[in-house]
Amino acid sequence: MLINKRIILGITGSIAAYKAAYLARALIKNGAEVQIIITPSGKEFITPVTLSALTGKPVICDFFTANTGEWHSHVDLGLWADAMIIAPATASTIAKMANGVADNMLVTTYLSAKAPVFVAPAMDLDMFRHPSTINNINKLRSYGNYIIEPTTGKLASGLDGKGRMEEPEKIVALLDDFFSKGRLLAGKKVLVTAGPTYEKIDPVRFIGNYSSGKMGYAIADAFAACGAEVTLVSGPVNIESAHHSVTRVNVESARQMCTAAEEYFAVADIAVMCAAVADFAPRDYSAGKIKRTGEDLMLQLVPNPDIAAKLGRVKRKEQILAGFALESENGEENAVRKLKNKNLDFIILNTLADKGACFGGDNNKVTIINQLGEQEVYPLKSKAAVAQDIVVYTINLIK
Ligand code: PMT
Repeated sequence: MLINKRIILGITGSIAAYKAAYLARALIKNGAEVQIIITPSGKEFITPVTLSALTGKPVICDFFTANTGEWHSHVDLGLWADAMIIAPATASTIAKMANGVADNMLVTTYLSAKAPVFVAPAMDLDMFRHPSTINNINKLRSYGNYIIEPTTGKLASGLDGKGRMEEPEKIVALLDDFFSKGRLLAGKKVLVTAGPTYEKIDPVRFIGNYSSGKMGYAIADAFAACGAEVTLVSGPVNIESAHHSVTRVNVESARQMCTAAEEYFAVADIAVMCAAVADFAPRDYSAGKIKRTGEDLMLQLVPNPDIAAKLGRVKRKEQILAGFALESENGEENAVRKLKNKNLDFIILNTLADKGACFGGDNNKVTIINQLGEQEVYPLKSKAAVAQDIVVYTINLIK
């Protein structure tokens, strides 16, 4: 999928430099032509001989080759590339890139590059969360560079935390998405809600439901793969988004979800409400654990806000608002009623009667219904494939 793509891989002085060898190999395996530029400290971690053996090209470190005097033109390199990836990117290189400190071949080439630039930070957790690193990364984002968020886990220091360079396969998948799906939704802001809500009864109990978040997360990832900037407002789930440009906002209760959804909807172009929101919450929260008495326990429930309906009331003409209908019977009729009542542009009906669909599993079977009553019926598919259908449906609406 990266056939004939010309990629500059910048390697800096981090223990994660060994991963760059795997990354170079994976890029080449996917059809890319790779030119490596390494910083002087990068060479302390991985030898240029290994890297040039993998790419079939001399590794560039200096502005010229000492014995021949051959000059390496950063400008030509910057124009040659279809993409530039700096992986691993140390705090120091990020700071230089953010501030235009062109004291080595890599940063000089970065400043000349016309192609999209991807930066995969790798550093210790405290360096990563230091305000100066945060500011520098934000600066790179503001220049239009793509930050490939580091992952959380055991770090070279022995500490546990965020700072591990993303795995090479994920970086390749990200580039693949970038080139193959294009930038269909570039510049669009998308809000997705996902997962269940928990409505607290006491410190140990809550009212919840079986939503795993899989459907909503797949939708968030599918929009992100088309270049959208996605905010995923998520109830409590045990999964992660696979996409670097999905920003997750964690909430627990329906009221918290409502506040977050209202905030992000105000700036969103598209919203898909996939969360299984509890319609009711206990009227009173008991600060102490409710004791068993042998008697019946009466819980009084009060209605939660209908988040989709609230967004539907403030929806602007150019915004697209989609919702789900989770039904056990009279699916179509109920879905159409929800579509109208909540002022949605379209609704995605899934029914518990369809085996293998809805909660928990990896598949779903949906029917999309629009304001004109037109229906698109889809077969049972993976949630990732259903998510793509929803993205395609949305793109067709805004075309
Ligand atoms: O998370 P998974 O395990 O992958 O399962 C996916 C799913 C089955 C949860 C998902 O496909 C789904 O159907 N989500 C919507 C569940 C739901 O609450 O449906 P509903 O018919 O009760 O609600 C209709 C719409 O209003 C939904 O868009 C819902 O998010 C929204 N709603 C509902 C209640 C409420 N108080 N506020 C809302 O915004």
